[in-house]
Amino acid sequence: MNVCMAHRGWSGKAPENTMTAIRLALAEPAIGAIEIDVQLSKDGIPVLFHDFTLERTSNGSGLISAYTYEELRALDAGSWFGERFAGERIPSLEEVLQAVKGRCTLNIELKTAPGMHPGLSESVLALLKRYDMRGEVYVTSFDHEEIRRFRSLDDEVRTGLIVYGNPVMLLEQLHAARATILSMAYPYLTEELASAALEQGVEIIAWTVDDPQAMRQLLKAYPDVQICTNHPERMLAIC
Ligand code: G3P
Ligand code: CA
Repeated sequence: MNVCMAHRGWSGKAPENTMTAIRLALAEPAIGAIEIDVQLSKDGIPVLFHDFTLERTSNGSGLISAYTYEELRALDAGSWFGERFAGERIPSLEEVLQAVKGRCTLNIELKTAPGMHPGLSESVLALLKRYDMRGEVYVTSFDHEEIRRFRSLDDEVRTGLIVYGNPVMLLEQLHAARATILSMAYPYLTEELASAALEQGVEIIAWTVDDPQAMRQLLKAYPDVQICTNHPERMLAIC
């Protein structure tokens, strides 16, 4: 059955990667998973934020890694989306884990690049252990080296590689990284890849599917693929 995954929380309805977007997704029982982007503050606290810089989705500027958690918490991460979201804060991963535990699968994207967030895997894993949530999350990243690092620290959490473009040889890369999730841009999904993945016990997450016609096609052709969307309401209207 296709899992509906809310991308950056229910980001079509509330500012992405905020507690409001996450709470909206948690309130809809048909949403089976929530995707979030996680980076480290200057003082090593895992926080939710997509871009490496603050400008697009907050009233701050510069690199997120240049600010302490306290400084990031002083920013407004909601007004850009609409005045009624003014005062929305950048959440810590810890408060998200507290909200999500026992309710929904969490897809934690480690939003990093080589050398950008040293200690990110360690900090995320420490929180997952503290909240006993290693069985309730996926840890994924475009930075495949970071996923290999995460796997070297922990054997329990399900991990995945995120890829742009045509996933030639991806299943081999996935196995080499001891990951079991392929998170990919949906236009590159093929029946051949989906059936090979299914055969090999690999789960596929297709992102970011916002077009209802594309959703219909994917749901019909790939009943096992998880659909990551900014607009879960569009998928739920079809299912
Ligand atoms: O999980 C991957 C998906 O979120 C696509 O990447 O840029 O939206 O974080 P991005
Ligand atoms: Ca993401």
